[in-house]
Amino acid sequence: MKRIMAAALIICMMLTLASCSSQEKAKGAKTNQQTETDSAKHILTAYFSCTGTTEQIAGWIADKTDSDIYQITPQSPYTKDDMNYGDSSSRTTTEQNDASARPEISGRVEDMDKYDVIFLGYPIWNGQAPRIISTFLESYDFSDKTIIPFCTSHSSGIGSSDTQMHSLCPDSVTWKPGERFSADTTSDEVNDWVGGLNITMETSANTGVFHFETKKVLLNSGYEMPIMGLGTYSLSDEECENSVKALLEAGGRLIDTAYMYHNEGAVGKAVRESGIPREEIFVTTKIYPSQFENAAGAIDEALEKMDMEYIDLMLLHHPGDGDVEAYKAMEQAVADGKLRSIGLSNWYVEELEDFLPQITIMPAVVQNEIHPYYQENEVIPYIQEKGIVVQGWYPFGGRGHTAELLGNETISAIAQAHGVTSAQVILRWNLQKGVIVIPGSSNPEHIRENLELFSFELTAEEMEQINALDRNEKHDWY
Ligand SMILES: Cc1cc2nc3c(=O)[nH]c(=O)nc-3n(C[C@H](O)[C@H](O)[C@H](O)COP(=O)(O)O)c2cc1C
Repeated sequence: MKRIMAAALIICMMLTLASCSSQEKAKGAKTNQQTETDSAKHILTAYFSCTGTTEQIAGWIADKTDSDIYQITPQSPYTKDDMNYGDSSSRTTTEQNDASARPEISGRVEDMDKYDVIFLGYPIWNGQAPRIISTFLESYDFSDKTIIPFCTSHSSGIGSSDTQMHSLCPDSVTWKPGERFSADTTSDEVNDWVGGLNITMETSANTGVFHFETKKVLLNSGYEMPIMGLGTYSLSDEECENSVKALLEAGGRLIDTAYMYHNEGAVGKAVRESGIPREEIFVTTKIYPSQFENAAGAIDEALEKMDMEYIDLMLLHHPGDGDVEAYKAMEQAVADGKLRSIGLSNWYVEELEDFLPQITIMPAVVQNEIHPYYQENEVIPYIQEKGIVVQGWYPFGGRGHTAELLGNETISAIAQAHGVTSAQVILRWNLQKGVIVIPGSSNPEHIRENLELFSFELTAEEMEQINALDRNEKHDWY
């Protein structure tokens, strides 16, 4: 645990480290190791504690996140009498009953600007955060920072003590839902909670960057994902097995299935029989709204059908009743090691605005309909700015539209200029926009062709020409 007292020494060390890592970067490809050094988020664990319970939890959080720690100390310490909450005229009762009370704090955080994330701990006092927490929040500019409240209490839940703080800070603060701990919470429980937040990787400088040399992208979950693969929608078991085999033989490593495609078992079988180590293959599946009511059971069912110990990425297939609870079940499955990354499918700006404040783990991926006639040029940057990777389905426009799209004059001319197919041009256009592609096919020839996207590059002008084809024309209902 780094103590704030040692701030000057740490800053010197960080400056040295920073100069080392930028020299390394200039030399060539980034490794994951470097990514963590480059991007290490600056985290502060700030807490107020009178009898040591919150202090202990704060210490574990600081250890786990390797963060600086700061104790919020009242100018005038609370005496035993002050804290007698059975007494209606005690200092704490009076303060807690007065929303404008702002007990003074002794000392300050030296350089609040440098922190990206603040864990904020406090005991529950009369059902709320102590007023000194309001003093703390009003003493600094928390714009664009993430605040993660946590509290301890005798028996009360966190209640509205966390959400009530939101109005004290600028709108640009990202608030994670708070967590309540009791005096007998163990360090393992605290570590599990922190681990599930995915805090350290979330704003990695490397997150979301498509690496065309490795053909992978680093997700905010800390796992790498191939940027092109195979979609298996509408493939029968036999077609699916053959297609997955063709993909794996041709070097592809990303497979997308769903409960609704009824072929998860075939995907699992083809992966197992390929002889390729499991950790080299990335499998996505989705749970359907009809499963949201028992999402934990649906996750286990998918694992069983695919006969896998973990799933690389699980998405909620569509928004629907109970989607927040279903997502929380996926968050729990991440903590349990059943899922590595989680995300959403068919969530657009409005749906995301409503959904994201209700969950803890930021989605790693959002998968939506994207093709030259339905480009989502406003949705894609909105998602990417949050450190979420975008993935497209129906890259060739979907059933009944493929011939028209592949035969489009502009796309065909670009394809001819590069000596590739229209399909390859569309897929490459996606990759250059930072969109992962998973074209569906049961034709081994096409599956191979769809992976050959790295021997040519579209010029800025060609990208513009394809961008100009947008018709905002959705080809499916969701
Ligand atoms: C003034 C005061 C009010 C409290 N109000 C509540 C309460 O409303 N609900 C509850 O469960 N515990 C309540 N408690 C108990 C504390 O929340 C609990 O002991 C907490 O873990 C103490 O944290 P600390 O050791 O970090 O100071 C209260 C304690 C004090 C001193």
